[in-house]
Amino acid sequence: MEGKTVKDSAIETVQIMTPQDVNLAGNIFGGALMKLIDSAAGAVAMRHVRGNAVTASMDRLDFLCPLYPGDLVKLKASLNHVGTTSMLIGVRVEKEGILSDKIEHAASAYLTFVALDNQGKPTRVPPLILETEEEKRRNREAIARRDQILQARREKKQNAAQA
Ligand SMILES: CC(C)(COP(=O)(O)OP(=O)(O)OC[C@H]1O[C@@H](n2cnc3c(N)ncnc32)[C@H](O)[C@@H]1OP(=O)(O)O)[C@@H](O)C(=O)NCCC(=O)NCCS
Repeated sequence: MEGKTVKDSAIETVQIMTPQDVNLAGNIFGGALMKLIDSAAGAVAMRHVRGNAVTASMDRLDFLCPLYPGDLVKLKASLNHVGTTSMLIGVRVEKEGILSDKIEHAASAYLTFVALDNQGKPTRVPPLILETEEEKRRNREAIARRDQILQARREKKQNAAQA
């Protein structure tokens, strides 16, 4: 299977936050941003495989500053690593006030997607070609995060079996 570069599937989207997604304090719900993050990561996964892919896990999500209606939200999503059938995707969210050009880092998220064939079974994904030093650093960090998650999952299974 032919490899694809990170650039081949990376996306950037811009969205304006609206009053329908606010909580009682006037902030945008975390869940509204999670949906945008999941959609952006899903678009990256499906562009890489040019087929179906589903969210297997949201591995980490940090909200770094509040969002309000009228804020412009830019999502930058790209592949950090691919396994056999899985894809590890990072999403950086930036906030830009509509009345100023100040840009803040609003959130970061890491998700795992799995490619599915026509029968809904996990299927192989194209290899990922890493071109830049930044892509290689993100790849190393994604592998370390994945190893930690797999280790935690193994320990949980062992503990459940012993209980
Ligand atoms: C994700 C899913 C396809 C995995 O199916 P599975 O039969 O458990 O798959 P496997 O055990 O063969 O693992 C396939 C790959 O997924 C990865 N994976 C499975 N579960 C995972 C999880 N919870 N988190 C991260 N990665 C996971 C495995 O590490 C493996 O990666 P690799 O092929 O690159 O080594 C299945 O659990 C599923 O369909 N989940 C629901 C997905 C969904 O509907 N998402 C939207 C929620 S509304």
